[in-house]
Amino acid sequence: MRLAGKTAIVTGAARGIGRAIAGAYAQEGASVALADIDLEAAEAAAAEIGNAAIAVGLDVTRQKSIDDMVDIVAGRFGSIDILVNNAAIFDLAPILEIGADSYDRIFAVNVKGLLFTLQAVARRMVAQGHGGKIINMASQAGRRGEALVAVYCASKAAVISLTQSAGLGLIEYGINVNGISPGVVDTPMWDEVDALFARYEKRPLGEKKRLVGEAVPCGRMGLPEDHTGAAVFLASTDSDYVIAQTLNVDGGNWMS
Ligand SMILES: NC(=O)c1ccc[n+]([C@@H]2O[C@H](COP(=O)([O-])OP(=O)(O)OC[C@H]3O[C@@H](n4cnc5c(N)ncnc54)[C@H](O)[C@@H]3O)[C@@H](O)[C@H]2O)c1
Repeated sequence: MRLAGKTAIVTGAARGIGRAIAGAYAQEGASVALADIDLEAAEAAAAEIGNAAIAVGLDVTRQKSIDDMVDIVAGRFGSIDILVNNAAIFDLAPILEIGADSYDRIFAVNVKGLLFTLQAVARRMVAQGHGGKIINMASQAGRRGEALVAVYCASKAAVISLTQSAGLGLIEYGINVNGISPGVVDTPMWDEVDALFARYEKRPLGEKKRLVGEAVPCGRMGLPEDHTGAAVFLASTDSDYVIAQTLNVDGGNWMS
C-alpha cells in the first residue's frame, strides 16, 4: 500500500473524479477526508468507502469554511499529508454574452478557492515540518482556449500557473505541488456541460458528449477511475522529484 499511514483531504469528493480519488487513497492505506459543499453526498460517499473516510462540509469560496475544514481534519487525523484541490464548477457562454456573475462564480471556486485551500493546508504542512503533497485538478481546457468556454478555460490556465508558482515556492518545505489535467471525463459535470452545449450549439442532448468521446485518440471519454493512478503517484514518495508539473491524463487529447 503506497499511502499507508498518510492522511489526505480531497475537495469536491462527493462525486465524480474526487470521489474516485478518495476511494483509491483509502485502498492505498490513507485516511481520507471528503470535503464538499454537498455534505450529504460527501457523507454517503465516505460511508461507501468505509472506516478510513470522513466527510467534512466545505465551501472553498469562504475562508472560514476552509480554515474550519483544515482544523477539523487535523483534529481527527492528527496531521495532513496530502491535499487534492479538486472542487470546481463549469459554465459556458459566447464571448459576447459572458456575464460578470458567471465570471465571479467560476473564479471564486476554481481559482481563489483552490489557492486559499492550498495556502491553508500548506501552512499546516509547514508547521508540521514533514512536507506533503498537493495536487491541483486542472483541465485540458487550461491548455487552450475554446470559443464558448472562455472563463472556465482561463480559470484552468490559472490553475496550471498557480501549480507552477506554488510548486516552486513550497519545495523548500518538502511540499510537492503538481497538477493533473483531465480531458473529457464522464461525470455529473459533463452532463451539465452537454446540456449547455446543446443549448448554445443547438444540438440534441447527448450529442456533444458522444462526439467528444469519439474524438479522444484512445476512443472513449475518460472515467473518474482513469485518474486515480496519477493521483496516487503524485501523492506517493514515487513522485518526490516531480515538482510544479501538470500531468495530462486525457486519453491522448493533448501533448505538452
Ligand atoms: N469532467 C470532466 O470532463 C473534467 C475535465 C477536465 C477537468 N475536470 C476537473 O476535474 C475536477 C472534478 O470534476 P468532476 O467532473 O468530477 O466534477 P463534478 O461536478 O462531478 O464534481 C465536483 C464536486 O465539487 C463540489 N463543489 C462545487 N463547488 C464547491 C465549493 N464551492 N466548495 C466545495 N466543493 C464544491 C461539488 O459539490 C461536486 O461534488 C474539477 O476540477 C474539474 O474542473 C473535469
